[in-house]
Amino acid sequence: MAVQINPSILSADFARLADEAQAVRGADWLHVDVMDNHFVPNLTLGVPIVESLLKATDTPLDCHLMIEDPDRWAPQYAEVGAGSVTFHAEAAHAPVRLAREIRRLGARASMALKPATPIEPFEDLLPELDMLLIMTVEPGFGGQSFLDIMLPKIRRTRELISRHNLPIWLQVDGGVSAATIERCAEAGADVFVAGSAVYGMDDPAEAVRALRTQAER
Ligand code: DX5
Ligand code: ZN
Repeated sequence: MAVQINPSILSADFARLADEAQAVRGADWLHVDVMDNHFVPNLTLGVPIVESLLKATDTPLDCHLMIEDPDRWAPQYAEVGAGSVTFHAEAAHAPVRLAREIRRLGARASMALKPATPIEPFEDLLPELDMLLIMTVEPGFGGQSFLDIMLPKIRRTRELISRHNLPIWLQVDGGVSAATIERCAEAGADVFVAGSAVYGMDDPAEAVRALRTQAER
């Protein structure tokens, strides 16, 4: 299982996004947190900034949409060129239709689960998805503490993916750091989002390398 490290630009300096994207060369994807002040109590950025970022970096964009009505808005991110588009299970009205639309537009389709949302009701949807995102904090803010109680859910999700023999990536997001990444990897995650544990460091590119080494152990 190849490990991927996706720095979250939520913890970057929004006035210097191009430089901040360059600062994590070697990262697999750049994680872009889109928040609408409704699905989560925070507001970040939307399609125009994603388009600018796409011009500023060769690193593909992993857009995590923490927004209401992703059925309406998510396809735009695929259309402008995001390589991966994640919508929330709690917000999507027609997740199968939405995942198919995202794939039709050429992006990887991914679904996220908040901490209190179980994976089991979504088992039949798995073939429609390229990635599952298990939130390990309540979405909305960077710099929160990792929720250990999510480890069994990561493990169950990995088992479900294996049982169906599907090539689905399993991403964890929230509080992932040098102190927690090994437990996530051990539980079966293979894509790791890290905001403060990358951009909070003096050398973000080195932080990405160090996290990768730890996750590969
Ligand atoms: C939280 C976001 C995360 C956030 C993670 O709602 O989805 O991507 O940037 O930040 P850290 O790694 O600092 O917990
Ligand atoms: Zn995120």
